[in-house]
This record gives sequence, C-alpha cells and structure tokens, in this order.
Amino acid sequence: MGKANLHVFFLLFLILSCFCESNNQLTQPKSLSPGDMLISEGRVFALGFFSPTNSNKSMYLGIWYHSIPERTVVWIANRDSPISNHSSVKLSITNSSEMVLFDSEGRTVWKTANTTTAGGADGAVAVLDDSGNFMLRLLNGTVVWQNIDHLTDTILPSTRVLLSYKAQVVGRLVA
Ligand SMILES: *[C@@H]1O[C@H](CO)[C@@H](O)[C@H](O)[C@H]1NC(C)=O
Ligand SMILES: *[C@@H]1O[C@H](CO)[C@@H](O)[C@H](O)[C@H]1NC(C)=O
Ligand SMILES: *[C@@H]1O[C@H](CO)[C@@H](O)[C@H](O)[C@H]1NC(C)=O
Ligand SMILES: *[C@@H]1O[C@H](CO)[C@@H](O)[C@H](O)[C@H]1NC(C)=O
Ligand SMILES: *[C@@H]1O[C@H](CO)[C@@H](O)[C@H](O)[C@H]1NC(C)=O
Repeated sequence: MGKANLHVFFLLFLILSCFCESNNQLTQPKSLSPGDMLISEGRVFALGFFSPTNSNKSMYLGIWYHSIPERTVVWIANRDSPISNHSSVKLSITNSSEMVLFDSEGRTVWKTANTTTAGGADGAVAVLDDSGNFMLRLLNGTVVWQNIDHLTDTILPSTRVLLSYKAQVVGRLVA
C-alpha cells in the first residue's frame, strides 16, 4: 500500500471510528442491539445492554458512567424484567413515536410510558445527554418522554443515590 493510500485509509478509519463512538442518538430506522452503545456528547454517560457480573444470563438496558471503569449504573429500563435470551433483542423507536425494548420473540419488555402524543408524528429521536438524561424528542423538538420524569424506575446522580453495580441489580443502595 502506498503512503498516500495509507493516509487515506487511516483518515477513513478515524472518521469511521469517530462516527461509531460518538453516537449519542437513536433514530427511527436504527435500533440498539446488545453490544451497541449510545455515548453522551461529552462522554460522561453510556447507554446500552449489560449483565451483572454474577449472572451473565440476565440482561438489562441501562445507563452508566462512561468514565468510571467499574460500571456504575444510574438507570435501568427493565429492572423487573431481565432478559434471558439475548438474541434479536433490540431497542427501537416505533412509528407511533414510542421507544420499545423487544425481547427475542418480539415481545415488549419495556416501553416509554406516557408519551404525550399518540402517533401521527413524522418521527422521533432519542438522545442521551451529559447529565444522564435520556429523552425521546419529536422532530419538531417536543420532548415526549424522558427518564427523569419517571422516578419510579429512575435513579439519577442528582438524587445522590447510585445503584451499586457490584451488588445485585435490585440490591443495595449506596448514598
Ligand atoms: C457465563 O457463561 C459461561 C458460558 O455460557 C458459563 O460457562 C459461565 O459459568 C457463566 N458465568 C456465570 C457467572 O454465570
Ligand atoms: C412504519 O412506517 C414505515 C414508513 O412509513 C412503514 O414502511 C412501516 O411499515 C411502518 N411500520 C409499522 C409497524 O407500522
Ligand atoms: C432465543 O431466541 C431465538 C430467536 O427468537 C431463538 O431462535 C432461540 O431458540 C432462543 N433460544 C432459547 C434458548 O430459547
Ligand atoms: C402520566 O402523566 C400524568 C400527568 O403527568 C400522570 O398523572 C400519570 O400518573 C402518568 N401516568 C403514568 C402511567 O405514568
Ligand atoms: C410537535 O408535534 C406534536 C405532534 O404533531 C405536537 O403535538 C406538538 O405541539 C408540536 N410541538 C411544537 C413545538 O410545534
């Protein structure tokens, strides 16, 4: 490979890896599968699938600090419904502008409750921001759902409570 080719190749590699790594949005035709991650713009938080270290069978969709090596989970979507069959699991935005977590058989494991619109929208985009807020926005900017509105299934840093990842997922709370 010539030197110029190598440069082009390297540049392409950089562009591609930036494109993949700095993705903080989920849009309608895409879906998030196990192994994929959304990372907030300032690389503070990550959203994706994880399994607790003591059980590589149960899988959860959650948000954790991207910068802390020991995974510190701050929000879990399907806390009460862990997924055991990991194949074909995906988080998608539906045509009715809801965000839905599907299991391997296409059943709904979790979805955004209380979205204020009932369909009709041109589309929606889900964005993870640097404060750990995950929000579902219509294309006109209206936020129809965000995790901080749902405190029953949300534990955020601002509440000064973190879920210890090492403990059982439903377990200990550390102030
Ligand atoms: C994780 O999965 C592997 C392969 O399926 C299995 O051998 C191992 O015992 C599992 N570990 C735990 C902690 O469940
Ligand atoms: C969603 O909308 C797209 C494009 O309009 C259409 O092709 C697709 O069939 C729709 N999906 C469902 C489940 O209605
Ligand atoms: C997991 O789901 C896939 C896809 O639906 C299916 O083919 C497979 O048999 C399932 N595995 C188990 C162990 O149920
Ligand atoms: C939906 O939102 C309304 C108004 O904010 C609230 O009273 C209601 O409890 C919510 N329902 C659910 C299922 O979260
Ligand atoms: C955005 O679109 C939704 C659904 O069509 C509508 O309810 C909402 O009022 C719109 N918001 C703005 C700011 O136009």
